[in-house]
Amino acid sequence: MKSVFISDLRPNEDATALFLVQSKDVRQKKTGEPYLSLSLVDRTGEIEAKMWDNVGEIMHTFDRDDFIRAKGRVQIYQNRHQFTIHRLQRVDDALVELQDFFPASQRDPDEMFEELRRTVAGMTNPHLRALLEALLDDQRIADGYRRAPAAKTIHHAYLGGLLEHVLSVCQLCRFVAGQYPFLDLDLMLAGAITHDLGKIQELSYRRSFGYTDDGQLLGHIMLGLRLIDDKLRAMPDFPPRLRSLLEHMILSHHGELEFGASKVPVFAEALMLHYLDNMDSKMQAVRTAIDRDQHVDGCWTGLCRALERSLLKKDKYLQEAVPVVAARSAPVEPAPAANGPAPEAVPAAAAVAAEAPQPGLPPAPSEVPVPREASVPRAAPVPREAPVPREASVPREASVPREARSQPRPMSLFGERLKDALKKEP
Ligand SMILES: [Fe+2]
Ligand SMILES: [Fe+2]
Repeated sequence: MKSVFISDLRPNEDATALFLVQSKDVRQKKTGEPYLSLSLVDRTGEIEAKMWDNVGEIMHTFDRDDFIRAKGRVQIYQNRHQFTIHRLQRVDDALVELQDFFPASQRDPDEMFEELRRTVAGMTNPHLRALLEALLDDQRIADGYRRAPAAKTIHHAYLGGLLEHVLSVCQLCRFVAGQYPFLDLDLMLAGAITHDLGKIQELSYRRSFGYTDDGQLLGHIMLGLRLIDDKLRAMPDFPPRLRSLLEHMILSHHGELEFGASKVPVFAEALMLHYLDNMDSKMQAVRTAIDRDQHVDGCWTGLCRALERSLLKKDKYLQEAVPVVAARSAPVEPAPAANGPAPEAVPAAAAVAAEAPQPGLPPAPSEVPVPREASVPRAAPVPREAPVPREASVPREASVPREARSQPRPMSLFGERLKDALKKEP
């Protein structure tokens, strides 16, 4: 039975705990000696780990998806927990409780699936309802839908996360249909329920989360369309134009071509589905980043890769008394980078030089993705001299010149797959 969980780990304390190895890299120090860079998970979260010494003896004794018992010390690096391992050993599967290692939705999957079925049963369009019922009646799809995460790491990255995400988007569809009565609610609900359906095949979630071969080769949009096509073959009366609308919503739900959409949304329901999907994903990513960072000092989270920025822990910020002099003498530059290059573009030397943040102040420049100057052309107008209060200079749009904003953003929540394809995570 596991007694110490990742959420229990505290900075500057020694710990011994069981983990599931989500990723394992053997790297080289400057001296040529190997060291291990690991991502370790349990049901409460994920932690980066490094093992610097005596690696040669153990590096071939375990692999990704194995369980290990590790002894080491928790430290803060770049405003995030990092576990420095002193000793580790592989642990046999039979000696662990599997449910301790897989993060899962707090909601009961059967209850969520019933809610999804009720949503479908309440639809008035007979064709869309019949298609969705055919999909949910398929035991293979139903099992996958109950269990799949919505993403590997970025948002709703836990068992049942896909279903939780889809139900949330369905609820948002109902809200906006009340505000914009010209929207076809049935079409939006059908889009919400099918837009990420392919994730049940794109992701592997029997052990640590990853991508299947078909996920790597085809992606969830293509896989979802295949599942729908499979059902529509048995439904010859399904209106072809309604089919095209639904397929367009799936193809375009990432919003922009550079984020993996095959087409940009070209009718109201498709555009709204993109907005709601994006909103739900990002709100959940923010919540996760703040929750995971509660035990780290300071008002700013480490880099939230989903949003390419550090986030303000608002409640801590409001609670902490900020010395007025310190606040005024703080440099403006360290505000979290907004539209800068992807996190990977941070020079390694800058990352290594990161220092602990001052309470109440944004992280030091090296802790945020990129100092603002790095993303702003020299010729751009810099509003720093403007005699406005500091608060007024923070909003991103006010300080980023048009040229910078017109650059394609390097990554979105939906660019996770695209980004993976372009550049493997270290
Ligand atoms: Fe998607
Ligand atoms: Fe989604």
